[in-house]
Amino acid sequence: MSATAARTRRAVVTGGLSGIGAAVVERLRADGCEVLTADIDPAADLVIDVSNGADIERYAAELADIDVLVNSAGIVGPNLPAWEVTPEAWARTIDINLTGSFLMTQAVLGGMRARGWGRVVNIASVAGKEGNPNLAAYSASKAGLIGLTKSLGKELATDGVLVNVVTPAVIATPMNDGTSDETLKYMIDKIPMKRPGTAPEVAALVSWLASDDCSFSTGAVFDASGGRSSY
Ligand SMILES: NC(=O)c1ccc[n+]([C@@H]2O[C@H](COP(=O)([O-])OP(=O)(O)OC[C@H]3O[C@@H](n4cnc5c(N)ncnc54)[C@H](O)[C@@H]3O)[C@@H](O)[C@H]2O)c1
Repeated sequence: MSATAARTRRAVVTGGLSGIGAAVVERLRADGCEVLTADIDPAADLVIDVSNGADIERYAAELADIDVLVNSAGIVGPNLPAWEVTPEAWARTIDINLTGSFLMTQAVLGGMRARGWGRVVNIASVAGKEGNPNLAAYSASKAGLIGLTKSLGKELATDGVLVNVVTPAVIATPMNDGTSDETLKYMIDKIPMKRPGTAPEVAALVSWLASDDCSFSTGAVFDASGGRSSY
């Protein structure tokens, strides 16, 4: 038995106050983890804008003690043709969805590597594989997150720290409240199951990726798309 086997696993879920993140929090708690939420929502355990390195630095001690990081914080960003997207809206989307996951991961890796066990699960999107029209910044941020996952998986493959990414299709959460009906219809029409997924369905996959049962998968892309993205 390793020295860490007796330790109650400690998890941080970014974006843990809503949608997929909230479902992951509930699921990991049911799995027996101690879970901290990290969110811009003031009700979070760690009040963090994930794109802000100084916010993250304030919780360096807590984050050094984390075994499982789930990067779920994200925004849709501009829902416009790419030629109408402002540089500011582009940068904000990349900063939160991609750089935020990178900064949070950096904050937990020292502790995970020292203890020889860790799980990082990134929540990307099928948009990062296929590119959704009128969501260029979002799609680019999620493609970047897939690339980051693949690099980290290889860098950490012999350290006991596994890094994987989930690519959901449209999931019924508050995130879609601001998405146009046209874009939502486009996304649901492309799903062979002809329905949005649910947050608990994604959380079930994340639960496995965060566990000891996931032991020979890293740097990999896991689908949760009702058959849309079967590659
Ligand atoms: N809902 C979908 O259809 C869908 C599909 C594919 C991928 N995803 C991805 O899943 C993740 C979760 O999405 P969701 O549907 O649960 O969204 P949501 O809007 O319900 O929740 C997002 C959470 O992230 C938090 N957040 C936003 N910006 C933040 C920041 N800068 N710092 C910290 N926290 C911040 C919000 O406060 C909120 O609690 C996102 O990364 C999203 O891109 C969602």
